[in-house]
Amino acid sequence: MCGIVGYVGVKPAMPILLDSLEKLEYRGYDSAGVALISDSGIMIRKTRGRIADLRKIVASVPADDCTVGIGHTRWATHGEPSDVNSHPHLSKSGRVAVVHNGIIENYIELREYLRARGYSFSTETDSEVVSELIDYWYNGDPVAAVRKAEQQLKGSYALGILFAEFPEQIIALRKDSPLIVGIGEGENFIASDIPAILKHTREVFRLGERELAILTRRRVTVFDHLGNQVRHETEHIAWDATAAEKGGYSHFMIKEIFEQPDAIAKTIAPRIDDELNIRLGFKSITDEDIRNINSIKITACGSAYHVGVVAKHFLKKTLNIPVEAELASEFRYDDPIIDEHTLVIIVSQSGETLDTLYALREAKKRGARVVSIVNVVASSIANESEEVLYTWAGPEIAVATTKAYSTQLALIELLCLYMAGIRGSMTKAEIDGEIRAMQAIPAGVQSLLDNVKSVQYIASLYFNCQDVFFIGRNIDYALSLEASLKLKEISYIHSEAYAAGELKHGSISLIEDGTLVIALCTYRPLLEKMVSNIKEVKARGAKVIAVINHDDTQTEAVADHVIRIPECKDIAVASLTIVPLQLLAYYIASLKGCDIDKPRNLAKSVTVE
Ligand code: F6R
Repeated sequence: MCGIVGYVGVKPAMPILLDSLEKLEYRGYDSAGVALISDSGIMIRKTRGRIADLRKIVASVPADDCTVGIGHTRWATHGEPSDVNSHPHLSKSGRVAVVHNGIIENYIELREYLRARGYSFSTETDSEVVSELIDYWYNGDPVAAVRKAEQQLKGSYALGILFAEFPEQIIALRKDSPLIVGIGEGENFIASDIPAILKHTREVFRLGERELAILTRRRVTVFDHLGNQVRHETEHIAWDATAAEKGGYSHFMIKEIFEQPDAIAKTIAPRIDDELNIRLGFKSITDEDIRNINSIKITACGSAYHVGVVAKHFLKKTLNIPVEAELASEFRYDDPIIDEHTLVIIVSQSGETLDTLYALREAKKRGARVVSIVNVVASSIANESEEVLYTWAGPEIAVATTKAYSTQLALIELLCLYMAGIRGSMTKAEIDGEIRAMQAIPAGVQSLLDNVKSVQYIASLYFNCQDVFFIGRNIDYALSLEASLKLKEISYIHSEAYAAGELKHGSISLIEDGTLVIALCTYRPLLEKMVSNIKEVKARGAKVIAVINHDDTQTEAVADHVIRIPECKDIAVASLTIVPLQLLAYYIASLKGCDIDKPRNLAKSVTVE
């Protein structure tokens, strides 16, 4: 997804902007550019490709005197990745430069509007219309011009704007796309995310919906959409600067996989007191409300949705009410049957996924009670939710999620036990037992991470395969969905997840000599059936890797390779089972030489529908 940075201060802006853009590379991009205020007006340099390509282009540009600028990494939506479509966009008059993250939905209409008034366009982007529209309204007052233009914009936008006639300021504005402001000593910043500016300041705040900020090197002034001045307390970011870096690992993804024991412990431990009571700190949802809930819907995208599919099983079993998991992109358009007795659980690492944000709004509109599980503090989903439970996973940089998934899973399990206690569907003693099992998850994950050799060996045997089928039943099927996504997104190997019982209804026709099948066999009630499924695919020539419980000899006897999960209670099994499968995906992708942290075509934060 596009990334925005901006700097206003006394230091040369170019190196700061380039460095900050590099910190946003994890968001996924295909081109990059900068705009700087120079003595002769706004200077733009941009290119298709990586920041390294941009660095080559700007190397010979004399810019040491330029201390104000904006930068952008573009993830193409409207128009191919190309030099001309890259941001920043400079209005034809040279007066206004804009970087944009989001989508201007009515850009075609606005182009016609501006063409009729003598404007022309040279890119295929939706964003170019913003610089020209602001230029059209500009009459010496930058804020008035931006606000006038904003009234005509439909869609989502985070904007960084330079005016040639106001060389000492940046204007920032956002709606439905993230933007933070960083406060420094005699310098100020804007960025799409915190790692971009962490090297320069730890004092940040998030710009609210439709807020406009004017940044000079001495001050930042913020106005709401009605023009009232708004004061923001800054948040001190305590992360070690290296927490946003790789810290000695080859990739962010493997670093984040290894951070899981700590991330899970940090997410659950502070919410469990010495008497094993769960403390979630709800402000508006009361015990009475929880007793009155008669159904649950979990909605999210991608891996976060997969968390919901796993959670559905134990929420239903534990609370004995209907529970559904639905893709956020479908939920919103599916006339969801929900009311004030429905609990909608929203799951999102970034808190900015637009489909999920819209699903949240739909749920609220229909009167549901809403709890969001979010990793990024004060993100849009967090801000708009009735109740927020933060996963304390720390920044997740690799595009493929791992530690966010694990912490989401643990937190939703904790929510489930919390509700079970209030509704009386479990006794205190039963809940205590489950909590103890959850407290043991970090150690269980650690023991899997201490023994990666067997997974590396299996990866070395199969990294050249063309197709992989993940099969499982019940929670194992839910986990297969995530395991399959992990493999395909970073290794580009075609993989599918099937409910094992469905195989013989069609997909088994794809199994031939040497096809790799990964069978998840941890769900004890259906183990016999999984063993039969393994025999069925083996009879057709498949090679089978089985993920099994510590004491399972039955599956071991039929599979080609096994990966054992350490002894644990049922509630912990899912959290452990996913770990070797994340590792397998990682080592396979690594052996194939893939760009693991930034897989092709993918973005970390998907802020478009
Ligand atoms: C896959 C992955 C994505 C995200 C999805 C939702 O590894 O990371 O499928 O899970 O895009 O993102 P969030 O959780 O930020 O809403």
